[in-house]
Amino acid sequence: MPGHTLSPALLAFLLLIPWALESLANPIAGLNVLARSSTADFGHGTLSLPFRRRPSALISRSSYLPTTIDNHQLSYLVSVGVGTPPQSLYLSLDTGSSDTWFFSPQACTTGHCAGGTFDSSTSSTFTDLSTGTFLIQYNDNTKISGDYISDNLSLGGVTVESVEMALASTGAGSGPSSQTYGIMGVGYPSNEAGPAANEYPNIVQDLVSQGIISSYSYSLWLDDLASQTGTILFGGYNSAKFSGQLTVIDTLPDADGTVRSFLIALSSLNGSYNGQTTTLTSSTFTPVPALLDSGTSLILMPSAAYTIVANWFGANSDGTIDCGLADKSGSVSFGFAGVSIDVPFSELAVLDEDTQTCYFGFADGGPDSDWILGDTFLRSAYVYYDLGNNQIGLAQSVFQ
Ligand SMILES: *[C@@H]1O[C@H](CO)[C@@H](O)[C@H](O)[C@H]1NC(C)=O
Ligand SMILES: *[C@@H]1O[C@H](CO)[C@@H](O)[C@H](O)[C@H]1NC(C)=O
Repeated sequence: MPGHTLSPALLAFLLLIPWALESLANPIAGLNVLARSSTADFGHGTLSLPFRRRPSALISRSSYLPTTIDNHQLSYLVSVGVGTPPQSLYLSLDTGSSDTWFFSPQACTTGHCAGGTFDSSTSSTFTDLSTGTFLIQYNDNTKISGDYISDNLSLGGVTVESVEMALASTGAGSGPSSQTYGIMGVGYPSNEAGPAANEYPNIVQDLVSQGIISSYSYSLWLDDLASQTGTILFGGYNSAKFSGQLTVIDTLPDADGTVRSFLIALSSLNGSYNGQTTTLTSSTFTPVPALLDSGTSLILMPSAAYTIVANWFGANSDGTIDCGLADKSGSVSFGFAGVSIDVPFSELAVLDEDTQTCYFGFADGGPDSDWILGDTFLRSAYVYYDLGNNQIGLAQSVFQ
């Protein structure tokens, strides 16, 4: 395998990321601990939706790319029904984007739509809101286009009525890494693909306004590497899935003051092995904005920071690592304001079934890369995304 290099697509993406470190007014957000109120905890006012990892989930080099089609292919599939009567679809769950869309049968004549297609002509509750105005472009140049529509969406045993979504008429199987699943984007409406003037409520807001859940929030529990399943819990959190308490930290806005993504301040990285703790961030390290992104497989960081971590682990220059790491007991501790998350070594050697090699859980994003905390971090964290308050609740996940 050739040395680890960055694709032009990743570089382009990183250059487009709108935040600038120096513009952060308040790098360490205030913290408090979320009280375990009975309304937010699992039960009344929440909706639980299981998901499963795509069966052939394998980490390829291109999966280093944040928010790409490839990552969507690798990610977590939820089962939904669209229309009346409901048509079954599998969609990729994505916290990094904000539109929910799926393919029409016409879009799949050349591509293969593994997640299924939606035939609007057989749904009695279908409305075409805006023909030809949906266009989402991913950084590998794959474009998906179609219509904004409205229809009922069934998930987790409930039906949400008149949900704004998009029906893709092109894009299936196109691009370097063919897209075969639609996406359920659960990010902020401010991050929707359309112009700001056309901003519409996302699925989580519809769940609140239709009285199905009681708070504009959800939590994500991915379980460990060995598991093929996880849960998204809309409207609250489930304290059986984490240890200790959820510590709440503010999400950081973009340079223009708008919160568009799940960015939080990361203050330190420490490695622990053989009873010794080593600080893996340089002595001049100051808190950096780090993106929580379930659509990215690994932990991406700037080259200088990556070098320290890779040297400590003895990772190979091609981004692989000795699979024996998984059997050693040690961890990397990620420090945030008032809470730290320990990622065990067993989560940091990701087996590629095809080649029987192991990918290192950290990746070099390039000299000026942003920090992206993808699945190799998120599996160890229980994350409560409180969109209503622009806050993130973090706790150590409990594996099952
Ligand atoms: C879809 O929504 C309509 C109202 O917009 C409702 O009458 C209908 O029962 C819903 N369909 C399903 C399958 O729940
Ligand atoms: C890492 O170590 C430094 C120095 O000992 C300490 O200040 C910091 O709190 C530690 N962070 C974590 C996440 O353990």
